[in-house]
Amino acid sequence: QMQGAVFDLDGVITDTAKYHFAAWSKLAKENLDIELPASFETELKGVSRIDSLKKILEYGNKLDQFSDDDIQELAAKKNGYYLEAIDGLSKDDILPGITELIAQLKAHNVKMSLASASKNAPAILKKLGLFDEFDAIADPAKVAHGKPAPDIFLAGAAAVDLKPSECVGVEDAVAGVQAIKDAGMVAVAVGDAQELAKADKVVPTTADFSYDLFEQTFEKANA
Ligand code: BG6
Ligand code: MG
Repeated sequence: QMQGAVFDLDGVITDTAKYHFAAWSKLAKENLDIELPASFETELKGVSRIDSLKKILEYGNKLDQFSDDDIQELAAKKNGYYLEAIDGLSKDDILPGITELIAQLKAHNVKMSLASASKNAPAILKKLGLFDEFDAIADPAKVAHGKPAPDIFLAGAAAVDLKPSECVGVEDAVAGVQAIKDAGMVAVAVGDAQELAKADKVVPTTADFSYDLFEQTFEKANA
């Protein structure tokens, strides 16, 4: 039986992916003279702040033009744009099905932890009124490697005293699903089935999430 659920935040619990991308697009355009194609949104999902910026600079063939200090400064600027955009976030911004899912997991004594790459995750959970629902939040600043490396999901399971093999990981990002699988966890993903084909189960929307879906996916993967 599934003992734990280790969640990504952005794009799974709330739809902040669009705000991240809007903030990066603004930074790229106004500060870097790089026009990001819409297709870049998928590539940046789950990727840490600094790694995202490096990908953008690489895309614009400008990575070698910026020092580490420049990169820190640009990343901070992007975060400023992002924080402005999410200022009004509230419980109305919890994605469909998530509140019900949390209640079901609790009713079945499934431990819940967060494995977000975002340093803004605790603040966002508070805005959504979900901070107290989680048993633990893994700190992305304390792991050596960001997604697609498994570190943050391993930390998420350890934070609730579980083995990865006892947990289901929940993601919307290609990098995140890779991280879950390399952590040795069962992966449930939301989004495009082709893009996220490495997951054990992909559903089109978070409204499709339920304890039963997670548990059945877990049992099937372990059969
Ligand atoms: C992930 C997002 O959850 O967090 C990425 O999907 C983002 O887009 C990453 O870059 C880091 O977030 P933050 O809030 O620390 O800049
Ligand atoms: Mg995500």
